[in-house]
Amino acid sequence: MKLWGGRFEKDTNDLMKKFNNSFDVDKRLYKQDIKGSIAHAKMLQKVGILSFDEGEKIVSGLYTILKDIEEGSLKLEGDFEDIHAFVEFNLIERIGEVGKKLHTSRSRNDQVAVDMKMFVKEEVGEIIKKLEKLKEVLILKGKENNFLMPGFTHLQPAQVITFSYHMKAYCEMFERDIKRLKNALEILDECPLGSGALAGTTNDIDRDFTSNELGFKHPTKNYLDSVSDRDYLIELLSSFSITMMHLSRLSEEIIIWSTPQFNFVKLSDEYSTGSSLMPHKKNPDSVELIRGKTGRVYGSLVTLLTTLKALPLAYNKDMQEDKECFFDALDTVDMCIEIMTGVIQSMTVNGDAMLKSLKIGFLNATEVADYLVKKGVYFRDAHEIVGKIVKFCEEENCAIEDLEISQLKAFSSMIDEDIYDYIEYKNILKKGNKKKIIEEE
Ligand code: ARG
Repeated sequence: MKLWGGRFEKDTNDLMKKFNNSFDVDKRLYKQDIKGSIAHAKMLQKVGILSFDEGEKIVSGLYTILKDIEEGSLKLEGDFEDIHAFVEFNLIERIGEVGKKLHTSRSRNDQVAVDMKMFVKEEVGEIIKKLEKLKEVLILKGKENNFLMPGFTHLQPAQVITFSYHMKAYCEMFERDIKRLKNALEILDECPLGSGALAGTTNDIDRDFTSNELGFKHPTKNYLDSVSDRDYLIELLSSFSITMMHLSRLSEEIIIWSTPQFNFVKLSDEYSTGSSLMPHKKNPDSVELIRGKTGRVYGSLVTLLTTLKALPLAYNKDMQEDKECFFDALDTVDMCIEIMTGVIQSMTVNGDAMLKSLKIGFLNATEVADYLVKKGVYFRDAHEIVGKIVKFCEEENCAIEDLEISQLKAFSSMIDEDIYDYIEYKNILKKGNKKKIIEEE
């Protein structure tokens, strides 16, 4: 069944039909399409375009379609151009001729726009919940494993931090992601239904009614913009890309930490896989895949940006391409957040390995300089002195705190016995604004 054809003489070319049909992709919007149609029908009934009886027939017909799809007795399959054709055809088949009135004062252009907005409102809400859960798990893992650990710059040992603080850094990133998503949801919360194909309708419809019925803040203002706006999908894809970037950074760290050379964390068997050849291998495939799938989500963002680039107003069929890449990115980010949550929840953290690596990385060298500054040495001079101490320790293969006081004094007469206490790793975080690192919120 086609939604058009009166002015055509020839049938659509078979390959063209396949090329044009979007049903396989947009059938995912069945619930939104039916709910949007119900709101539209109720509105038509309210303003008198449909009689009371006609409105009731259409609305209850649409409800039975929804119920049958959900119960599995009506399959989302068949030779349909898109989900809109599927729903309308099924309605007419069920309730007869009156079903043909449903599309009065509506176009698939405003229909698909409202369907997609309803869809993302629901789905993005779920992503936000999953990000909240990931944050909780990161905080808890940190609390349970509040070990001192080396912090890095350039992936070279830098200064002492704690594992908990490292986890909290990721919480900040995911919190910003949540804010970005909420902001996008706030901006998109305007209902495009009733904009028609591009220029409204000569019928006196009530757009406030449908907007309200579908849970939007208010109707969109400009009809042309309503049917050609896909900004919200681009914003969400951009936000998903940033979340994936964050997840990929965390993945990378877990991959590095789980090498025997680092041995900071051990992934659960549940989130690792083996090698078909090398019997000893246990690989962190879960986080490698998250890292790998990041590119795929970036790809969706670039796809949609490029699709929309230079498109004239209003609707163009190019825009049908929005769904496949958006759905793919949504499913990817959704799965990656959940997998990461499981990885973190089930991994074990090795505090001893972290402590050991503090000693081999001169993680208290900066504090030796701070100590000297406290004793009146200019910072630049202190920096030079500590550099020489480090060089000496490297040659001796020891840590700064392993040196005798006489050895230390040879580098600066300002150094006294109290240095050992000052540069003791667990004391470092008790001083200055480093206290924040161990503060419990
Ligand atoms: N399947 C189309 C899409 O997703 C629906 C809108 C079609 N409109 C049209 N005038 N052909 O964009």
